Amino acid sequence: MAGTGSCLVLFLCSHAAGNATLFHSLRLFQAYANQLHGHPMIIYVLSKGLFLTFAIHIITGILLFWQNRKARDHKYKVQKRTVKMSQASRTMIYSGLFILLYLIIHTSAVSFGDHETIGLTISYLFSSPLVILFYITAFIVLAIHLSHGFWSMLQTFGVNHPKYNKLTGWLTYIVPISFLLIFGAIPLLFI
Ligand code: HEM
Repeated sequence: MAGTGSCLVLFLCSHAAGNATLFHSLRLFQAYANQLHGHPMIIYVLSKGLFLTFAIHIITGILLFWQNRKARDHKYKVQKRTVKMSQASRTMIYSGLFILLYLIIHTSAVSFGDHETIGLTISYLFSSPLVILFYITAFIVLAIHLSHGFWSMLQTFGVNHPKYNKLTGWLTYIVPISFLLIFGAIPLLFI
């Protein structure tokens, strides 16, 4: 989960950087998309790799969820809350499934039409207030998912030391909120 999760965070960074061209203009965004599609071999390898990474992350997540449920053959009478068991950590499967639904809708929507008119597709997509609402809801859910996922990933990689724990604690807020602000501001440009 941590290995594929870190690859997905890297994808989010590059996707946020590319989409941030929309803050300048639709023309710059279109130029970026044209530049990207000028390298079909790279696009092909990266998109297949990305699909595989998402697939492994989702399937492992579902298997872990079932294993955890089976290991605890009856529900606790009292839900004991500890600091580490945050609301985000207990709802990872649900936030993950919502992001999966978002991904299916989003990739179907953006692959509709020609990549040479992707700028137009985006402005058409965000002309609907309902779509904007759905996108912003998905970005909030993504931020909640990342707030636990990012912390968990650091623990798996052994980034746990009293000297750095304050910094990593901050990062678990800064990283998800940064993605929320960048992705979330984009649909609002079209209002
Ligand atoms: C407002 C924010 C976003 C915009 C405007 C946007 C826009 C786009 C566009 C235009 C493409 C097609 C790229 C191309 O083929 O030229 C795309 C693909 C994609 N987006 Fe987004 N996106 C946004 C947020 C997200 C988020 C938050 C995620 C992940 C949770 C995401 C996941 C993907 C995936 C997986 C693809 C397919 C990549 C591939 O070609 O294999 N997007 N997006």
